[in-house]
Amino acid sequence: MTKEIVLTGITTTGIPHLGNYAGAIRPAIEASLRDDVESFLFLADYHALIKCHEPERVKESTKAIAATWLACGLNPDQVTFYRQSDIPEILELNWILTCVCAKGLMNRAHAYKALVQENVEGNEVDPDKGITMGLFAYPVLMSADILMFNAQKVPVGKDQIQHLEMARDIAGRFNHIFGQAFTLPEAVIEESSMILPGLDGRKMSKSYNNTIPLFETEKKLKKSINKIKTNLLEPGEPKDPDDSALFEIYSAFSTPEQIAEMRKAYEEGIAWGEAKKVVFEHINGQLAEKRERYNELMASPTYIEETLQAGAEKARARATPLLKKVKELTGITAIK
Ligand code: TRP
Repeated sequence: MTKEIVLTGITTTGIPHLGNYAGAIRPAIEASLRDDVESFLFLADYHALIKCHEPERVKESTKAIAATWLACGLNPDQVTFYRQSDIPEILELNWILTCVCAKGLMNRAHAYKALVQENVEGNEVDPDKGITMGLFAYPVLMSADILMFNAQKVPVGKDQIQHLEMARDIAGRFNHIFGQAFTLPEAVIEESSMILPGLDGRKMSKSYNNTIPLFETEKKLKKSINKIKTNLLEPGEPKDPDDSALFEIYSAFSTPEQIAEMRKAYEEGIAWGEAKKVVFEHINGQLAEKRERYNELMASPTYIEETLQAGAEKARARATPLLKKVKELTGITAIK
């Protein structure tokens, strides 16, 4: 059986929160256990430099994200788990792809266009003010990440669909000019995948400052859950589960039976304080062991680094022959 190659990357600029866990980490780890797929999962640290010039933050985020995935049960023997910057072949491929990528294609990238638009609306003289070449050409680097391993399926959020189309476009251009080297990748958008609301009821996101950190202390988790916005209904008054961030967050961690039970408790007028207590106990119960493992890994990170090095070795074993072929196709080769 040939396995389907599934690949995804996580930009190392943040510390994982509950929304990342329910929406991305947990489903990716579950998917990686299937035996009809081969998973590549990597820390996109070169992507971090596109938007973040704070070395401490990039370092801390890389460490925390790696520790989180391992603590949540990612099995590095089953998955190729690596750090982008450990695979120099990706950057070599990046340049080759840059040379077949039309500039006009990058001009159309949403992220770039949005920044230009902001400058124009702000009456800046230079519409490209504050925009680096890294940001402009970022879809090429993302294409290199994907094409380097001939990934077939790439699970991403909706905001990344255009980048996958660009990766297909760039792969097609290369294949057309130099000969078949790359598989055209497809985005996988999990329609059903969970988008968790944050403390204020909007989508949980770093940019809204409404997140619940995944592995803070138990006390902080409790405090965060207590801050989830509710309404002024008194104990005993029926509450609407379908208009409740607390209920939605609880649901992301519950079986259908547990959800039905909570729904009943809402309808019977459970007090908000009581509901929050139940939700905390429930989520904490699922995270406690993982949190402990996370703290151990963060305190003695040698294991993380060794795991990433072993992952890099596996990844490079795959990248090297493909890069060699690609270079040969372009005429970059030993003199004979
Ligand atoms: N750009 C992606 C994001 O912001 C992260 C990423 C980088 C990625 N390279 C990738 C995702 C390759 C999938 C495949 O979410």
